[in-house]
Amino acid sequence: MLTDNHGRKINYLRLAVTDRCNLRCFYCMPEEGLNWLSRAQLMTYEEMLQTCALLVGMGIEKIRITGGEPFVRKDIMKLLTAISKLDGLKELTLTTNGVLTAPHVSELKQIGVKSVNLSLDTLDAGRFFSITKRDEFANVMATMDELLKHDIEVKINAVVMDGKNTQDIVPLVELTKELPVSVRFIEEMPFNGDGHVYSGIKWDYVRILDEIKTAYPGIAKLEDPQYSTSYNYQVPGYLGSVGIIAAYSRTFCGTCNRIRITPEGELKTCLYDNGVLNIKDQLRAGVSDSDLKTMLLTTFNTRAKDGWEAEQLRTENVRIHESMATIGG
Ligand code: GTP
Ligand code: 5AD
Ligand code: SF4
Repeated sequence: MLTDNHGRKINYLRLAVTDRCNLRCFYCMPEEGLNWLSRAQLMTYEEMLQTCALLVGMGIEKIRITGGEPFVRKDIMKLLTAISKLDGLKELTLTTNGVLTAPHVSELKQIGVKSVNLSLDTLDAGRFFSITKRDEFANVMATMDELLKHDIEVKINAVVMDGKNTQDIVPLVELTKELPVSVRFIEEMPFNGDGHVYSGIKWDYVRILDEIKTAYPGIAKLEDPQYSTSYNYQVPGYLGSVGIIAAYSRTFCGTCNRIRITPEGELKTCLYDNGVLNIKDQLRAGVSDSDLKTMLLTTFNTRAKDGWEAEQLRTENVRIHESMATIGG
């Protein structure tokens, strides 16, 4: 079992396979002037698989594939299939925007994927376009249908943005009436790719919950699963559930069980840190598995206690300038 210097269990790896995306959600990346990583800067599938195998051997039980958008990387199903076969891995899952996902759902089911998180900030096609700058709403909805048809658990991630989609909060909760999905409202974080910073957020988890409770005074608190990033609720009689993720307020750091690897192979032991070890560089320099393991253990033993400390400790680029697409969310 892997633990960090604060006694927290580490068993969850979020692996970002590309920085590219086929949407341009304004809270994630600017519409133009993007400098995509070159092929040589990206980890290869072989390097990713080798790293996953090592980490699973050390105690990682759950791997989430993220991006950018995982399905814009060529042959992503090959990587997923290979990872799904790793001995000791209990759960393989992914976070996708759903634009290209529908045709792959039955194969995802076949390789044992039991849950998929779908990014969807509105149920209005016009607002979808204004948030993402692409006319892809119908494809995302088709992916949701396909996932549900295959009995794959669906969590919908909706970032709550002042002046953009707060009118979608109630319709998104309403979606849980007939569909067994979990709609999770996320506080907006400063990882927007253009370095613009703000002091605090207008829609924090308390305000989001207030908004929901005003419309649904009878909403009931559910027990949160272990390591959950969301506080979970259910409107009595509804099939699905509702969650709120305090991603900016960082209320769940005390049970944080996850590490991240960026598309460039940078290991992050906190979403808010600046990267603590470049795994790709080590692999390309010919490091042995046992030396890499030692390096990994050192990083797990020097983890910031929470996202506030990690942000404070950032040595370079003190201002957060990354996009979620280069971190993997
Ligand atoms: P489950 O494994 O289904 O619980 O999902 P998850 O919340 O780990 O992953 P997902 O990719 O769906 O992320 C949903 C939102 O939560 C995104 O905006 C993430 O960036 C945010 N999030 C996930 N993990 C962390 C974390 O460790 N810290 C913070 N601050 N936010 C996180
Ligand atoms: N703040 C909060 N969540 C974000 N995501 C992307 N950018 C941000 C941001 N700036 C979410 C996406 C996706 C998840 C992995 O991260 O909506 O669902
Ligand atoms: Fe973990 Fe950092 Fe997220 Fe807190 S902010 S839950 S420490 S990744």
